[in-house]
Amino acid sequence: MVSETIRKKYEKLRAEVERHDTLYFILSAPEISDAHYDRLYRDLERLEHDYPELRTPDSPTQRVGGAPIERFEKVEHRIPMLSLEKVYTKEEFRAWTERIKADLDRDADNTLVLEPKVDGDSLELVYERGVLVLASTRGDGRIGENVTHTVRTVRGIPRRLKNAPERLEVRGEAYIRIADFRALNRALVEKGAPPFANPRNLTSGSIKQLDPRITASRPLRFMAHGLGSVVGRKFRRHMDAMQFLADAGMPIVDDLQAVRTMDEIEAYYQRLLASRDRRPYEIDGIVAKVDDLFLRDALGARSKSPRWAIAYKFPAREETTQVLAVDWQVGRTGKLTPVARLRPVPIGGVTVSNATLHNPAQIQKLDVRVGDWVLVTRSGDVIPYVVQVITARRTGKERPIEPPSRCPVDGAPVEVTESDLFCSARISCPAQIKGAIEHFKSRAAMNIEGLGPEWIDVLVDGGLIANAADLYRLDKKRLLELDRMGDKLASNLLTAIEASKRTTLSRFINALGILHVGEATAAALAEHFGSLEALMDASEEELQGVADVGPVVARSIHDFFARRENRTVIEKLLASGVSLAKPRLKSRALEGEVVVFTGGLERLTRDDARRVVAEHGGRTTDSVSQSATLVVAGPGAGRKLDKARQLGIKTIGEDEFLRRVGMPS
Ligand code: IVH
Repeated sequence: MVSETIRKKYEKLRAEVERHDTLYFILSAPEISDAHYDRLYRDLERLEHDYPELRTPDSPTQRVGGAPIERFEKVEHRIPMLSLEKVYTKEEFRAWTERIKADLDRDADNTLVLEPKVDGDSLELVYERGVLVLASTRGDGRIGENVTHTVRTVRGIPRRLKNAPERLEVRGEAYIRIADFRALNRALVEKGAPPFANPRNLTSGSIKQLDPRITASRPLRFMAHGLGSVVGRKFRRHMDAMQFLADAGMPIVDDLQAVRTMDEIEAYYQRLLASRDRRPYEIDGIVAKVDDLFLRDALGARSKSPRWAIAYKFPAREETTQVLAVDWQVGRTGKLTPVARLRPVPIGGVTVSNATLHNPAQIQKLDVRVGDWVLVTRSGDVIPYVVQVITARRTGKERPIEPPSRCPVDGAPVEVTESDLFCSARISCPAQIKGAIEHFKSRAAMNIEGLGPEWIDVLVDGGLIANAADLYRLDKKRLLELDRMGDKLASNLLTAIEASKRTTLSRFINALGILHVGEATAAALAEHFGSLEALMDASEEELQGVADVGPVVARSIHDFFARRENRTVIEKLLASGVSLAKPRLKSRALEGEVVVFTGGLERLTRDDARRVVAEHGGRTTDSVSQSATLVVAGPGAGRKLDKARQLGIKTIGEDEFLRRVGMPS
């Protein structure tokens, strides 16, 4: 028998996990760090393990997925899931509006609702009396596949809806955020595996899995953009239906706007087009829909698409071009990355002449050769990449890509590991030295301002530095001998280098540039081991005791500290006065948060505010970007605040900020 106290504790914890799921995936306004969430989740799992009678099928822990299924069942959609007619110009769009006007009464309400066209994978979710009972893919529009077992693992899809009618079909897009997609691909590429082509492919690949545990490990989200058949409730307008869904707890497409004129439509289109690269997820156009649902019925449908909606697409960001050559770039870890040199081609306003091929596994997967015509895509600020080879255009003259046997920078022999190529020279290869120092001085590492890549080139090529420790031995006299180096510049640089000496253990670990150890892992290592000595002496087994450190990462860390030359650099760094202060935390209220302050603050100075963030486990940054998680806005906040809203970053005021860190007014 479970005691009343335990049951109460369980229910409270479960409600808390559910609340944070909603905040994170549905409202995009997380209140706690991922690490904090993981702790709550593990506590819940532990309680259910100790008291199995508490666990019910709709517990958040049951999302992780049961046993794999053998094959997908077919599902017939009650109402076909049609596709959309597409237009690419204002004139074509206007022609569509004229056509619907001609089809309707002169005084019919011509309100249109505009939405982003989300580049995801469409799903239909069926709720019976508010409970998710079935999820299916679009399929051929009439018959899709039953993917309930995988969709149940998606944290952003509510398993229960509030105030739901007898039966409700919700339609929308499963999608993956660009930042999540990149993180996943980065991890794959680091492991030497071929990456996913784009977020859309990753999304559909994740939904269409026989094994739901694979789906559960992918950062899927969902956004509703309409309804299928509904029993037990009538809606008059699309906007009412969407409001109803949002109130019921369903995430819906953002940026919905009701409009009446062509000018408003064009302004909306241009606004979304301009913000395309800054959005958290991919969109490929806008969708316009007749708002009045009775008018939709009157307009009806063609065989493939309804007459009451249209997609007004953005210019494509994929182009075909030819691979002229493949070069191998040497990174800071000595890894050789293949880069395709392309016949220059404009893609979405930028001339593209290089595309990454990631690693040898990707070359093999694409079967790309020099001389091939390829499809290249570019999204956001990422390096363009080759999506596929157009084999139909092969002439037989294409040449296979030969991996180099020597490092293109210093001619040292190339080492071949299981999945990658490395320059064997390590510490003496200039490309590796420069890469390592660029990483060492970067913001999330030692944060040495003013030491740009061009100066690193000069310092390394001029023989002034050969490793990070040499930075702390630079003196003004040597610096002033350099071309274009002035007195002021030299002083500023030396001051910045000096200032970087006071740092934290986690920044320092990150700065070392250990293969597979980024900012997050460095922070986890610092927290776990508490001192550099303890980390340096840790066995592979001990290293694996740290959350997120698997065998590959543990080996990499262990190998790094086993190398004499790395230990020497570390000793020199410490000898020159680099000190690793442990920030004393007052609480973990801001753990995992990356905070931006904008506008005026009334109770704190900016410096105090930054200090408060650090004291409560968070970090601050000056610019609003994907990595920021929280914006504290005061009076007069302007562009940064707009940008935060566009990116869907949570925004709070100074009072709320102070309340969170236990300093209420
Ligand atoms: S409404 C009758 N709204 O685009 C079709 N679809 O090319 C009703 N899509 O299969 C669809 N964003 O999966 C609609 N805001 C949006 C959308 C959207 C993306 C997808 C949808 C559909 C495809 C049509």
